Amino acid sequence: MAKNLLSVVVLISGSGTNLQALIDACPASNYQITAVISNDPKALGLERAKKSGIETLTIEQESFSSRAGFDSFLASTISRFNPSLIVLAGFMRVLGHTFVKQFHGRIINIHPSLLPTYPGLNTHQRVIKDKQKVHGVTVHYVTEALDGGPIIAQEEVPILSDDTAEALAARVLKKEHVIYPKVVNLIALGKIQMKNGEVIFDKSIL
Ligand code: GRF
Repeated sequence: MAKNLLSVVVLISGSGTNLQALIDACPASNYQITAVISNDPKALGLERAKKSGIETLTIEQESFSSRAGFDSFLASTISRFNPSLIVLAGFMRVLGHTFVKQFHGRIINIHPSLLPTYPGLNTHQRVIKDKQKVHGVTVHYVTEALDGGPIIAQEEVPILSDDTAEALAARVLKKEHVIYPKVVNLIALGKIQMKNGEVIFDKSIL
């Protein structure tokens, strides 16, 4: 019997290794990626998507005089694909309130830290500088609060005494590539959703 696949649009800005992990997991999952949108025409992730026959689009912020203009064009472009889920995979742009409201409960993000600690950029450097022992990755729903939406899943990564930001980032990324496709598939299976600002997990996965 044909699977009922969740339609997903992925937003990227860079190398797209998380996108690649999502693409690779597709055949054994219940979602399909209908489009990949980048705000940078040079993003390597665009090539990854094209190689897999996924439609790609670039929307450059420089073409818009305001943040709201960019967000509104992005929203209408995404709506053409009518996705059930928008997956931010290294999308280096903060989405405005109107955008987030429009797709409420249908946007997720992956962040390289154990949120709520270390929101924002350069998390690997910051945890090492602060002499932390544990770092990690968080997948969360996107709300108006920057890196502050309800947490879906987290995975810890120990920080080694002689760690560099690059080595640590590589180990975190490895975890990202496992956790993100897993979460997207669980959402596709209807086992995870956001209701009244809270993440609801199906009993079968608790
Ligand atoms: C990842 O570390 C992700 O957590 C963060 O941006 C990075 C994207 O990497 N949001 P890639 O483009 O998927 O390789």
